[in-house]
Order: sequence, then C-alpha cells, then structure tokens
Amino acid sequence: MSRTRISEILSKAQAGEDVLVKGWVRTRRGSKQVNFIALNDGSSVNNLQIVVDINNFDPELIKSITTGACIAVKGKLVASQGAGQAVEVQATEIELLGACDDTYPLQKKGHTMEFLRDVAHLRPRTNTFGAVFRIRHNMAFAIHKFFHERGFYYFHTPIITASDCEGAGQMFQVTTKNLYKIEKDENGAIKYDDDFFGKQTSLTVSGQLEGELGATALGAIYTFGPTFRAENSNTPRHLAEFWMIEPEVAFNDITDNMDLAEDFIKYCVKWALDNCADDLAFLNKMIDNELIDRLKFVTENKFIRLPYTEGIKILEKAIADGHKFEFPVFWGCDLASEHERFLVEQHFKCPVILTDYPKEIKAFYMKQNDDGKTVRAMDVLFPKIGEIIGGSEREESYDKLLKRIQELNIPMKDMWWYLDTRKFGTCPHSGFGLGFERLLLFVTGMQNIRDVIPFPRTPGRADF
Ligand code: 4AD
Ligand code: MG
Repeated sequence: MSRTRISEILSKAQAGEDVLVKGWVRTRRGSKQVNFIALNDGSSVNNLQIVVDINNFDPELIKSITTGACIAVKGKLVASQGAGQAVEVQATEIELLGACDDTYPLQKKGHTMEFLRDVAHLRPRTNTFGAVFRIRHNMAFAIHKFFHERGFYYFHTPIITASDCEGAGQMFQVTTKNLYKIEKDENGAIKYDDDFFGKQTSLTVSGQLEGELGATALGAIYTFGPTFRAENSNTPRHLAEFWMIEPEVAFNDITDNMDLAEDFIKYCVKWALDNCADDLAFLNKMIDNELIDRLKFVTENKFIRLPYTEGIKILEKAIADGHKFEFPVFWGCDLASEHERFLVEQHFKCPVILTDYPKEIKAFYMKQNDDGKTVRAMDVLFPKIGEIIGGSEREESYDKLLKRIQELNIPMKDMWWYLDTRKFGTCPHSGFGLGFERLLLFVTGMQNIRDVIPFPRTPGRADF
C-alpha cells in the first residue's frame, strides 16, 4: 500500500477508503478508551485526525506517540463525528518510525519568532513556517510560469564575479588565499594574481550586468538566484543573502518596464490567492488580519505612477503640515523606508511606482534624462515593505555610459565586456530586480524578512 499525502486525503479522499499516512505528531490527547492524534506531513497546514482505540494497541507504543514523533498509520477513512474536520482515520496499524523525547523544543504552541529563529532547523515543522515555506515554493513556481508564458528565457548569471554591479562596494570577497599569510605589493595592496581566479573576486550583488548581455541577444531574459550584500543593515527588510529575480528586456522603455513590473507582481499575488488559500487563511488568522484584503487590493487596483520630484513635494508638504520623519527630506535625498511608506500607506493608500530619481543616488547604468539631473529609474513601493522592486531603463549610448563610468571612477578594466553591448548593435532596453523575500514578506504578512527564508544570513548570524 502506498502512502497518501494528507493534503490529498483532506481535499478529495472518500470515507470508506483504506489509507496509509506518514507524518509527525502534533498532539495526542484523549481518554483511557480512545486517543486522538493530530498528524501533519507538511503537505497542508491542516492536520489529519487519527482515532486510536487504545484496547487494540500495545500501551508502550501508545506512550511513544509523543509530540514530534514520526509515525506511519494504516487505517480506514471515516466521516468525522467531531467538529473541525470532515474525515478522520480509524487506525488499524501504527508504526513508530522515530521517537521524540521531551527535549523537543516545539512542545507547545505560541513560541516567539525570535525563539523559532534559534531553532531554525526545526521551525519548518510549525504551522506558521510550514505555511510560509509552501507559499515560498508557490511564488517561485509562479515566477517561472509568468516569464515562461511570456517568452522570457531563464538565464543563469554567475555567483562569483569580479565586478560590482550596484557600485555599492559592500561585497563578500571570495578567495582561496591563506589569510594568515597575505602578501602585499610595494604600495601595500594585496596581490591577487596568485589567487584562485588570478584577480580579486566576490559574491555577486546582482546578475543584471550579465543579464543585459542575455537580453541583448535572446530578447527577453530573467535571472532568479541568490545575491549577496555585506551591508551592515540590521533591519526587518535586509538579508545578507537573498534571492532576486531580474528580468531584462530589449526594446522596452521605462513605461514598458513599469507595465511589466506591475503585471508581474499582480500575477504572483493572484497566484498565491488562487493556490495557497489554506495557508493564507491560516496566516490571515494568526499573523495579520488584513493580509488577504491587502493582497486582493493589490491585484485589483492600478499602481500610482509618479516622478521622484513630485514625491518630494508631497513629503515636504506633509512636513509643513506637521508630520514628523526621522530622516530629512530634500530634493536629492535617498528616500528612507519611512518616506516610502508614508507615500504608499498614508498619502496614496496604494502601491506607488516612483520614477526619475536624481542620478547621484542611482547606479551608473541608468538612462540619463535630458534635464541632466535625473535618470530613468523606477522603484516600486509597497505597503508594509517600502521598496519591493528597483529598476530602470538602461543607458544605451556608449559615449554617455562611458562618461558616467569615468565620472564615478569605476575601473574600466572591469567594464569592457559590458560596454561591448553598447558598441556592437546597442538598443534601448530595461529591466528591474524584485527581492524575492520582500515579495514573500508582502504575501505572507510576516513582519521580519528573517522569517520568510529557511536559513537567514544576517550580520553576526550564519547558523544552520
Ligand atoms: O534596488 P536594487 O539594489 O537593484 C538592483 O540590484 C538592480 N541590479 C536591479 C535591476 O535593475 N536588475 O535591488 C533590487 C531589489 C530591491 O528592490 C529589494 O527588493 C531587493 O532587491 N533587495 C534586498 N532584499 C533583501 N535584502 C537586501 N539586503 C536587499 N537589497 C535589495
Ligand atoms: Mg534599490
């Protein structure tokens, strides 16, 4: 007899069928005659109730069925008498696959998120994290489906790189050098010619530059992979290792880019609503009562589109009217999350796409506007999250791009291959990056980005 997943039993099995189920015990309760086991196998947030007639089983076996234990149960599916489930299993055979003693950290419900981070190796077994990680899988699947259906190619960009895409300079170095014996040249600089790659290398902060090489050949590509940032930001929205999706499309201008970003997010959120209903209902009940309303709102309403300069005017007016921000607002400032959230949550009460940022606060590759001051950037700002997407139309002019690279003192020896795209058949093109965990924060209603990735990496933490 083969095992049936609990999700399948709960959704389509008929009373009367014989079933074999395997999973982990959430609770066992009951009287001297009959026990009820809540069994979960990870396929659903809902448990399967196993009814055990104590008289038919060895008392030692029953005693070993503790919270966290792993068991296999054969039995008959029957209509349930109790409230809370349509069907339950009347056990005929129970096998203990793995005992679990009372040092198991997930004995009772209601642990704090902080505690659960300390037992991140076990937290997928909780209802909340089971729901989050099932949704995580579903979002990854929806992303591939969205792009595949629209003729994009999944383009794999390198994780080890010798260039710094965002120019932020906060990269994790990759080396096989003996750190106890670092040789320096006469200027005190570390010599890399004898390192593994013969040059200084790091973990990538973005696959965009290589993504542009793909787009200017295949037309439309997307990347979906891990990215790394060594910024020491201890916030609920930053990870040192996160996953990013970066579509890049030849011939798209900034408006096409905004349309793509809006369609893309709406598709993903709708996918969650259509395919993760049980998990979302659970999170809506336990974590955030407005979650499902917020998800529906995003799929049903057009995002506001607004130039940065107009956004600054709104924030300045808010300050004049008495609103207090922690960080100052002036034309040229990089918006803090509090400013982004004010625009989205209080002013427009709708997702906002802010465009045409000052060139000084954006990366070198963005298309320069005719005003000489702004670039064709776009950030998608979301309720609860702030920036969820960052992107732009790219500078396609070789001369303008080279001038900007020189102004910013970006070493040319690292950039020759990127400039070749502008030298050999350049074209208008655009793209953006969606932080996968930021999307998951939005879709799950979780408060901290550490709780939407199985094993978070943040300053000072790389456990498991
Ligand atoms: O705005 P960013 O830095 O843009 C880029 O990396 C571009 N190369 C994207 C492109 O045009 N292809 O990052 C893009 C997104 C942000 O909007 C945010 O959602 C996410 O990546 N992100 C982070 N997510 C978690 N932790 C961090 N430390 C993040 N930094 C950026
Ligand atoms: Mg950004």
